[in-house]
Amino acid sequence: MKAKITGNRKFTVGEIDPRLYGSFIEHLGRAVYEGIYEPDHPSADDQGFRGDVLELVKKLNVPIVRYPGGNFVSGYRWEDGTGDKAKRPKRMDLAWGAVETNEVGVDEFQEWAKRAGSEVMMTVNLGTRGVQDAADLVEYCNAETDTHFAELRRKNGFEKPFGVKVWCLGNEMDGPWQLGHKTAEQYGLLAAEAAKMMKRADRSVELVACGSTGWSRCGDWDYEMLDHTYGYVDYISLHTYFSNKENDPEKYLAKVEDANDYINGVAALCDAVKAKKKSHKTINLSYDEWNVWYHSIEADRENRDADRWTRARHQLEDVYNFEDALVVGSMLMTLQNHADRVKIACLAQLVNVIAPIMTEKGGKAWAQTIFYPFFFASNYGRGTALRALTESGTYDVEGRKDVPYLVASVIYNAEAGEVTVFAVNRSLEEEMELEVALEDFGACALTEHTELYADDLKAVNEKDAERVAPVRVGLRPDGKILLKKHSWNMLRFKTNG
Ligand code: AHR
Repeated sequence: MKAKITGNRKFTVGEIDPRLYGSFIEHLGRAVYEGIYEPDHPSADDQGFRGDVLELVKKLNVPIVRYPGGNFVSGYRWEDGTGDKAKRPKRMDLAWGAVETNEVGVDEFQEWAKRAGSEVMMTVNLGTRGVQDAADLVEYCNAETDTHFAELRRKNGFEKPFGVKVWCLGNEMDGPWQLGHKTAEQYGLLAAEAAKMMKRADRSVELVACGSTGWSRCGDWDYEMLDHTYGYVDYISLHTYFSNKENDPEKYLAKVEDANDYINGVAALCDAVKAKKKSHKTINLSYDEWNVWYHSIEADRENRDADRWTRARHQLEDVYNFEDALVVGSMLMTLQNHADRVKIACLAQLVNVIAPIMTEKGGKAWAQTIFYPFFFASNYGRGTALRALTESGTYDVEGRKDVPYLVASVIYNAEAGEVTVFAVNRSLEEEMELEVALEDFGACALTEHTELYADDLKAVNEKDAERVAPVRVGLRPDGKILLKKHSWNMLRFKTNG
């Protein structure tokens, strides 16, 4: 099959905000305990953080990490995670049926993030707590005053403020599964008041309001909620988890098109409220939970009562296969292609819990299949997203017609004098001969073709067996670019000045 990508230097989508390559650590399963934190591990540092995990996180080059939840945050008392560790309470985590020991909390996570080279995106509890607690946490983290919570931070050993810039006003508050779930009106009013007080505590913070959870729920909630919060917030959140429960790979690979519709839909809803209010402000999008999540769901359901009320339960430990990596790679391209509107995105999550990085207690840490498309997007997908015009054959799946076989993005990094093209061939049968037309750059030279491919769509990486790993493809003397059937690819071009 022949296919073509055209990118023109003048036709830009927008600057890629580095925060597009964010991630997420929730107090859930073994994300924190046995994930980022394991004081007895041979690689543990002076604070008990696993060095092997930090190394892998640093490779992913994650500029921002959302914390501490997720569903967990809606029952969280942030003070539990501050001050003297010996005095911290153990709590029932009602979101996930676990025991939260609070060995790691607001204080420690700041330090972990610093060591990982990331900033923290903090979520406040608007489920079971309210506006005062949210404002107090902003004071604790960011204030330089000699007032109670800023002084408490100093007493706890942190003279300098943490400087947390981005704050989420609760988590998935539209969902009946959420502790303290609310209607759009109840949440909208609460979020607006919380935002008002948080911005009074620190005028420089940026706030994310909860949009609806997923494209299928999107619409009324987003509009009504924004009607209450528009003047106070900066972003609206989007969440998506992909699944191939039906074991239909063609359909699965097409699901990223829903994310495309979701982004366009939420942007339209924001702009509808903007028009209604005659506002000059634009609300941007924070896609602050996205990934594949389905492999572990059945087992978690079956084990629901087995290790209830224990610490570091094995939960949401999806073992990712090769087709999941294709979905994650395609989703990253979708985010890049919406760089004008999506300013923050968080791969959910980072370690052990639906994560690119897995660990064994006391043992190894390793990269799952989805690690690789994220690694390359984050490290090479920085700069300006150009409009990627694609031409390829299409296919139909149940519920969607004309799905292009080719998914692509084109990123121009002026500083490096480079254009990087990311491309997935969604055909399960046919190789693709790809023409790349980079216009208005002068002559461009292809310098690298990296490919992620496995014959078996279900191939997985395990502790001692890496079956899915990137390879450098030799550049062909005839200049042809061939994309294998069901493959992810990165093509790097040197521009001429
Ligand atoms: O990431 C796992 C869970 O998925 C989060 O806690 C919640 O926000 C979402 O439903």
